[in-house]
Amino acid sequence: MKFPEKRMRRLRGNKLIREIISETRLHPSNFIYPIFVKEGLTGLEKEEIPSMPGIFRHSIKSAVQECQKACDLGIKGVILFGIPEKKDEVGTGGWSDDGIIQKTIRAIKEKGIDILVIGDVCMCEYTSHGHCGILRKDGSIDNDVTNEYLVKTALSQVRAGVDIVAPSDMMDGRVSAIRKALDSEGFTNVPIMSYAAKYASAFYGPFRDAASSAPAFGDRKSHQMDPPNAREALVEIELDIEEGADIVMVKPALAYLDVLRRARERFDIPLAAYNVSGEYSMIEAASQNGWIDRKRIILEVLTAIKRAGADIILTYYAPLVAGWLS
Ligand code: PBG
Repeated sequence: MKFPEKRMRRLRGNKLIREIISETRLHPSNFIYPIFVKEGLTGLEKEEIPSMPGIFRHSIKSAVQECQKACDLGIKGVILFGIPEKKDEVGTGGWSDDGIIQKTIRAIKEKGIDILVIGDVCMCEYTSHGHCGILRKDGSIDNDVTNEYLVKTALSQVRAGVDIVAPSDMMDGRVSAIRKALDSEGFTNVPIMSYAAKYASAFYGPFRDAASSAPAFGDRKSHQMDPPNAREALVEIELDIEEGADIVMVKPALAYLDVLRRARERFDIPLAAYNVSGEYSMIEAASQNGWIDRKRIILEVLTAIKRAGADIILTYYAPLVAGWLS
């Protein structure tokens, strides 16, 4: 059938008909809300992140409150990022049992909030040099030694009660190392959500500002993926699945929707996408200038990420959009 019998506009005439044929629907239950927790903030203190208007570094108490808010809005998971008071060469604040994240996990769990607490497992927020691992004398990252520290980090988070661990460091072999360690301590049912295809992206700029985790020298190109490569991302994802990842992630989301789509077509396990800090801040900056319709852009962007194939979206907009959707 073709025009004039076939008319595509028939199904676009009003909101009801558009909604009834909608192929993609956002729902708060698919959002994960990233929360920054800063050691040294007290009471309900929180400080706004200059490059991420509307997003804060929270005290533990304030982070717990933020989790409760997210839970009340129907969000099922938060992912925690820590900003320690002291950083050192081996990122002690990331894996010690009284680290800021471990304390926050316990505080959320003590309150009994009905939300999945996910621990980001990486070293860059905790190392004095800002790199994602343990450095050799020549300044390069020692992959296998780093894995031992990532294992320590994951174990300390799980002992504190975290529900899911999410390694974001991009070292080779870290998923199997973490899986083995968790299993050997009896944590066989704690899932791993791996940042499987994480690109060396300029879109993380505001996050590094938020977490003061920019590398003191060099960059992350020796471990994070090179933006031109998509087939390589499928290999990364496949390896992580073989190593035991239960959920895999593509990051960033917007500039990598093709990767997300290809991953969706190839793999049948749950797929997450991270709508990262730079994607957030660009929308906020343009909105503040009155250049774009903020609400429509946010919904369009998140819908695109879901349409491309994401089951789960990590987004700083989680509470805002959950509110809109309710
Ligand atoms: C590493 C990590 C980063 C992000 C999440 N986990 C930063 C990096 O790789 O430099 C970025 C998230 C964002 O930009 O929103 N711990």
